[in-house]
Amino acid sequence: MSDAVTPFQAPIGTHDVLGAASAEWEGMIATFAQFAYRFGFALVITPMFEDVGVFHRGIGEESEIATKEMYVFTDRGNRTHALRPEGTAPVVRAFIQHSPTTPWKAWYVTPAFRYERPQKGRYRQHHQLGVEVLGTDDPAVDVEVIALAHRFYEAVGLTKFRLLINSMGDAVCRGAYVERLRDHLAAHADQLTDEHQLTWSKNPLRLLDCKDANCVAVTNAGPMLIDFLCADCREHLNHVTAGLSSLGIASHLDPRLVRGFDYYTRTTFEFVSDALESAQNAIGGGGRYDGLAEQLGGKPTSGIGFGSGIERLLMVREAEGVTMGSLLKRDLDLFVIDTTGLDAATLLVDELRRAGFATDRAFDQRSMKAQMKVADKSGARLALLVGPREFEAGEVTIRDLRSDNFEQTQRSVARDDVVFAVGQVLTKS
Ligand code: HAM
Repeated sequence: MSDAVTPFQAPIGTHDVLGAASAEWEGMIATFAQFAYRFGFALVITPMFEDVGVFHRGIGEESEIATKEMYVFTDRGNRTHALRPEGTAPVVRAFIQHSPTTPWKAWYVTPAFRYERPQKGRYRQHHQLGVEVLGTDDPAVDVEVIALAHRFYEAVGLTKFRLLINSMGDAVCRGAYVERLRDHLAAHADQLTDEHQLTWSKNPLRLLDCKDANCVAVTNAGPMLIDFLCADCREHLNHVTAGLSSLGIASHLDPRLVRGFDYYTRTTFEFVSDALESAQNAIGGGGRYDGLAEQLGGKPTSGIGFGSGIERLLMVREAEGVTMGSLLKRDLDLFVIDTTGLDAATLLVDELRRAGFATDRAFDQRSMKAQMKVADKSGARLALLVGPREFEAGEVTIRDLRSDNFEQTQRSVARDDVVFAVGQVLTKS
């Protein structure tokens, strides 16, 4: 008796994309690429894994993503790497390594890996579309990056989303604020959840992210960073919000918005959707990270960007009842049915594909009836039939797969004229 192998499944928190969903993905990525180019960004591809230090920099308040959720592994050369949990740090590492001229405007589409508790809209491998701009702290860049996200969401059909904005200040004004927040938390530590008892002192800002009612009550009664911003940071934020409103983009100040990474300075923002009754309603987020290049060993260089989850965008689009499909032409033009037994199809499909027609064929030398079934299912417009009779006569029969009385409408053309004849039929219809 043989031991049957239980079929493998995709790992928990991951998923396969196929069928109609893959057309939606294609459309989403193609639209983003189009927008990125329209805004002057170029595609950047960095490795899927990096030295763990690119993400886990061991400086100050570290995010849970870097400390608890990373997929870290040691390779055969004893190097410690991490699968990228996000797209920003690798792009900054690449910027330092290659010193491109600034401002450097990069866009990307990438998987990101986080060992999270999987739930709807929260995965262990998700995918992000994002941009980063390095080399300028002009608030006009903040406006441009946020406007790109906003215009892109509109273009993919989303209507029910809001932009939340905040400032994380800079090293100086945030430092003073964190001290005040820590004092406040110390005075109310007994009211915080158990989860924060050991961490509030080390990571006080993380408390602002906590959704627990007691923690929210404590932090709401405490100091807010927005009231501690230095004059420069305040002016920067004012420029950004004024620039956005000049474009007709409303932003809502959210003083509790701290986001999940330690690298943010000044502008931080998140786009949330109101189409989902879900905790996972952030469709994109980002901000400025003026100190990150230095933390990664580079010269001080300002930066800003955002990332948007493809799965989230698709979830929201479905909730809003919008589908877009692929922007690429995915329909087949032709399906070749070959019953010669001589594999006439191989040459024929090559010629048709080289002439630009989307063409498929059957395999395994199946019967005419079986091949016809596949042709009907394929969605192709025309079937091209080559049987022994056609082959002998140097002909191909063209059959309209949408016609009910194909016996009357089908016709034979000379094998040498097939590309021309097919082109005529397709341009006429
Ligand atoms: P993030 O907020 O962690 O930021 O992720 C960006 C977006 O990715 C989120 O708004 C959400 O749409 C999606 N996302 C995040 N985690 C998951 C998950 N587990 N499952 C499904 N979707 C998820 C960043 O990653 C920063 N690198 C963004 C940035 C770019 N900041 C500056 N530049």
